[in-house]
Amino acid sequence: MGSFGDYLQKSDWKNEKHVPVIEIKGKPQKGEPFDVDLSVGYEIPHPHTTDHHIRWIKLFFQPEGEKFTVHLGSYYFEAHAESVKGADQGPAKCEPFVTTSVTLEQPGKLMAISYCNIHGLWESEEEVKF
Ligand code: FE2
Repeated sequence: MGSFGDYLQKSDWKNEKHVPVIEIKGKPQKGEPFDVDLSVGYEIPHPHTTDHHIRWIKLFFQPEGEKFTVHLGSYYFEAHAESVKGADQGPAKCEPFVTTSVTLEQPGKLMAISYCNIHGLWESEEEVKF
């Protein structure tokens, strides 16, 4: 048996469509809110069908030099063209994209995990410096 981290897949989002992309908007300042865009399929679109789609992205903060990780948010994409008419016949889909806003009191790194219903868990991270 491995640990949880053994099942988090890592790659470059420019080459691998499953990797969550963390876009920090502007230049973060200590104690000031800033926006963070989270997405999957930024460079290479991920399939979006009832059978194959991105279910969620979770965002965490690892303060520099600290032991404990902070869970900032979970963003669920619930509609994938399901319908009484059948798969992929429904009237709505959620795109795997969300903007959130965070305020940090110390530098560290933002870490995201995305979940594809077929291809599992993928991670990425972005440094935040003041
Ligand atoms: Fe997938």
